[in-house]
Amino acid sequence: MTLAPPASEPQSSESDQRRYVREMFTAIAPRYDLLNRLLSLGIDRRWRRAAVDALGWEAKPDGLYLDACAGTLDLAAELARRRAFSGRVVGADFSARMLRLGAGKARPEVVRPAAADTLDLPFPGGRFDGAMVAFGVRNLADLDAGLVELARVLRPGARLVILEFTTPAWAPFRALYLFYFHRLLPLIGRAVSRHPTAYSYLPASVSTFPAPDALRERLARAGFHDCAYSLLTGGIAALHWGTR
Ligand SMILES: C[S@@+](CC[C@H](N)C(=O)[O-])C[C@H]1O[C@@H](n2cnc3c(N)ncnc32)[C@H](O)[C@@H]1O
Repeated sequence: MTLAPPASEPQSSESDQRRYVREMFTAIAPRYDLLNRLLSLGIDRRWRRAAVDALGWEAKPDGLYLDACAGTLDLAAELARRRAFSGRVVGADFSARMLRLGAGKARPEVVRPAAADTLDLPFPGGRFDGAMVAFGVRNLADLDAGLVELARVLRPGARLVILEFTTPAWAPFRALYLFYFHRLLPLIGRAVSRHPTAYSYLPASVSTFPAPDALRERLARAGFHDCAYSLLTGGIAALHWGTR
């Protein structure tokens, strides 16, 4: 799927979209964590804990795990702080500034940042014992290619966990949520981040992203089996998983 950035910034190709997304996250990086906490009222932390719970790392606590589109490394740090975890996490993102700002969140010998594009990961096939992506795949210029690339770097039997926004189905909550997400959030996001379009891009990208059933099928097509999802917080977010 190719997602068009806001109409005010016309883009013409996949590489334009990649650049737009990378520059946008690089620009908002210093306020990214603050806005996550503010705009989700702190619920994003609970969602990331659920993502790590779904990874199945307990089967191989000393394994090597990938946090793709890792941003400021919140998900990688969440796995690193689990008491029984003795493995390593590579946090990969194509915005080096996002990675740098997350550097203090976990011990460097446990979480290693890697400046890398999820569509072209610099790792050999079958390298990782599990992978997770929080709020990342929605931003990929080619979702299917990204899922195939994530499948490639996982060993057979390893799990991929994806955390993404979705749109609540229950009409009364949906109406309230859409008002917040499309009207209030862009205003707050723009005021705090001082970026003109990043927090309009967020709801726009969610509304064109595949619904949970469709994403489950895309995961299966990319080579994952036992694909399933569960909705979080009334369907604001969805946790997907599949086995390589
Ligand atoms: C919404 S942030 C999510 C960050 C982090 N996973 C979290 O939970 O807060 C999306 C991140 O994906 C990164 N990103 C988007 N497309 C990417 C790509 N093709 N390759 C690597 N990183 C990408 C952006 O730079 C950004 O840091």
